[in-house]
Amino acid sequence: MQVHNSILELFGNTPLIRLNKITRGIRAQVFAKMESMNPGGSIKDRIGLNIILDAEKRGDIKPGGTIVEATSGNTGIGLALAAAVKGYKCIFVMSDKCSVEKVRYLKSLGADVVIVPSTAKPNSPEYYVNTAERIAKDTPNSFYATQYTNHSNPEAHYKTTGPEIWEQTDGKITHFVASLGTGGTISGAGRFLKEKNQAIKVIGADPYGSIFKTFKESGVVIEGTPYLVEGIGQERIVENVHFKYIDEILNISDKDSFNMARRLAREEGIFTGGSTGTILCAAIKVAKELDENAIVVFTVCDTGERYLSKHHSDEWMREKRLLEKDKTTVSVAYQTKISGRLPKLVTASPGELVSAALRKMEEFNISHLPVIENNNSLGVINETEIMSKLIENPDLVNKKVSDVMGKPLPVVDEQDDVKNAIKSLKKSPAVLVSEYGNIVGILTRYDVLDFV
Ligand SMILES: Cc1ncc(COP(=O)(O)O)c(C=O)c1O
Repeated sequence: MQVHNSILELFGNTPLIRLNKITRGIRAQVFAKMESMNPGGSIKDRIGLNIILDAEKRGDIKPGGTIVEATSGNTGIGLALAAAVKGYKCIFVMSDKCSVEKVRYLKSLGADVVIVPSTAKPNSPEYYVNTAERIAKDTPNSFYATQYTNHSNPEAHYKTTGPEIWEQTDGKITHFVASLGTGGTISGAGRFLKEKNQAIKVIGADPYGSIFKTFKESGVVIEGTPYLVEGIGQERIVENVHFKYIDEILNISDKDSFNMARRLAREEGIFTGGSTGTILCAAIKVAKELDENAIVVFTVCDTGERYLSKHHSDEWMREKRLLEKDKTTVSVAYQTKISGRLPKLVTASPGELVSAALRKMEEFNISHLPVIENNNSLGVINETEIMSKLIENPDLVNKKVSDVMGKPLPVVDEQDDVKNAIKSLKKSPAVLVSEYGNIVGILTRYDVLDFV
């Protein structure tokens, strides 16, 4: 029989998936390490199990014991899954910033959950880590998991996440992008990858408001400010962030993180939490600067189902003023047009004969023929203008297109608001549509009118 003896045998060994759409126009290959496919839906399953196994080996946790931890939810879920199988009790302390889905999940796994205010500072007794420490001291036969300092956390990623990525990319990975919460992922997997190949760049993604980037760059511990992405960033330095394995840290905003997580679902079918959005924003920034030899791997930390009441809800996004302005994009108008019979874009080159250009216009029944070379809009052959020029001088058919073309058509990005295209169409009879910097189509006044 092809069976597993318990859910614990399914932790790790997650797949790598290529991004195809979000990366359009980028030469590097970008892969998602699908940690959301762990049994508990997050990267923290790996450490939950490893922390318990190591504690059992050391004799720090006894039968019938209680595991206590300060968690944004995911480590709690990893610990609680393993605890359910092994027969331990759990008490988790979480801040009120964490999603209600995580709290309910933990309770469903049989854990007790204590909620503390997210406004409590690290020196306050109410701070989630200080509260967990107190509960661990007061609870008989308890084991405090201490993910921020426990070496079993980065070790789990050193033993599993790092080697998996190395093998899955056949040792060809050039850039690893992860967030920093406890630091376990980036320190453990980062260390493994750097030991395999010192040239691999390890990049950290950090929310604006967290202190890690400034600390890495200047050694100064600034005062943190609030942000909404869960599970990553800090307002204090934590032992398990091993800065020596991190080459660079990029700051990403809540708005960019959440909107990227939403795009990842809509464009690639990968449903994730906000921290993955933070990481992917950083990964894309890095990948844009790289050539086709680069292989960028980023972590998909957890599943989006954990945030249905948060960034995957339009209402929540609007309430927090994070939703990218509702707009009709040029792309929508353009898609309507190309569902028709024409080829996507008919163009002329500047050196072509006018007679050849006219034949194209006749064949495809088009009124504007853009003149394009090396992805640059150089001019246009306009039906009415060329007609009057030819009546005056019929020999022009034997001239080059560059001798007779009119002013170049403006270029609008497919993600622009269609209202901007309409503004340009007041001055020009047509606009060119670009996708990730490449000219891919044309919209005439008539096309937009037809769409409207
Ligand atoms: C949603 C989410 N993303 C990312 C992380 C960061 O991972 P690490 O603690 O390994 O730095 C966490 C950690 O709790 C998390 O909950």
